[in-house]
Amino acid sequence: MSKPVVLVAEELSPAGIELLASDFDVRHVDGADRAALLPAVADVDALIVRSATKVNAEVFEHARKLRVVARAGVGLDNVDVEAATKAGVMVVNAPTSNIVTAAEHAIALLLATARNVPQAHSALKQGEWKRSKYTGVELQGKTVGVLGLGRIGVLVAQRLAAFDMEVVAYDPYVQAARAAQLGVRLVTLDELLRESDFITVHLPKTPETIGLIGDKELHQVKPSVRIVNAARGGIVDENALDLALKEGRVAAVGLDVFSSEPCTDSPLFHHDNVVVTPHLGASTHEAQEKAGTQVARSVRLALAGEFVPDA
Ligand code: NAD
Ligand code: MLT
Repeated sequence: MSKPVVLVAEELSPAGIELLASDFDVRHVDGADRAALLPAVADVDALIVRSATKVNAEVFEHARKLRVVARAGVGLDNVDVEAATKAGVMVVNAPTSNIVTAAEHAIALLLATARNVPQAHSALKQGEWKRSKYTGVELQGKTVGVLGLGRIGVLVAQRLAAFDMEVVAYDPYVQAARAAQLGVRLVTLDELLRESDFITVHLPKTPETIGLIGDKELHQVKPSVRIVNAARGGIVDENALDLALKEGRVAAVGLDVFSSEPCTDSPLFHHDNVVVTPHLGASTHEAQEKAGTQVARSVRLALAGEFVPDA
């Protein structure tokens, strides 16, 4: 009997592949290349993706044997879960695999915006010793507003509390008692915008959160605010952010994610006070290993018709 087919559409850790290779026919395709992906899904039982593969109704129409889509990471915004359900396809992810890595990256961006590390680095490598130009600000005693107090937001809050920051958060789905336990004060979005010296975004991308930080909100912030988005592009509206930077209503920005990816050019790149990384939030060896092995285990269970626990 032929082995069930698992199609890996983006990079997966060798440990994840190894967990699958003995029992499944593991194939590879570039999931971002639609012309290659659609014929490749025709006879597969499982599809493994990260964030670059759009898994929508069109994919399910081509994938008549598909039983499970596995997302090697957290965000499911590139998978149409409703269309999957209609097609009878299970969707699994690796919700805890990269949360520490993502939290650490958000803090790296936050520190970079506070101390101009990338700008000073580039200048010095070009032979410019500019100390006063790159004077920064301390974190101690400042207020950080965490948007979304979920798995990653909590890790960020705990770590920034260790810098002696006051942590406030906006998350209508979190109990005040839970926030208090963490030493976090829950506030309204307006209060967060008005009070924060730093804002860090840890929301899922949903119809509710797209553009949540737009022109109106960016008129409420302190002009000294530094904003970090290592969650999903578009939650902070890019045009509104560009305008706020041009008008000096925001002091600095750190971005790991963009409304359209890959993003190799953006008006935001032209501001010296914008620090960017190419969606590196989950990119550590540890997180990729965990994501690969967690989804491989989930795929094995799903194809065996067994219960798949929330990892
Ligand atoms: P999570 O689901 O654990 O937490 C999200 C939190 O947002 C929840 O507490 C929820 O109550 C809150 N929330 C949802 N809708 C809201 C709204 N409208 N207003 C206010 N709060 C709202 O998710 P997580 O694991 O912490 O991930 C957070 C984000 O980080 C996701 O977008 C995920 O895709 C992204 N992420 C990015 C990277 C990266 O590489 N940059 C890596 C991992 C995760
Ligand atoms: C995630 O949601 O897990 C991250 O954005 C990282 C990735 O795309 O793998």
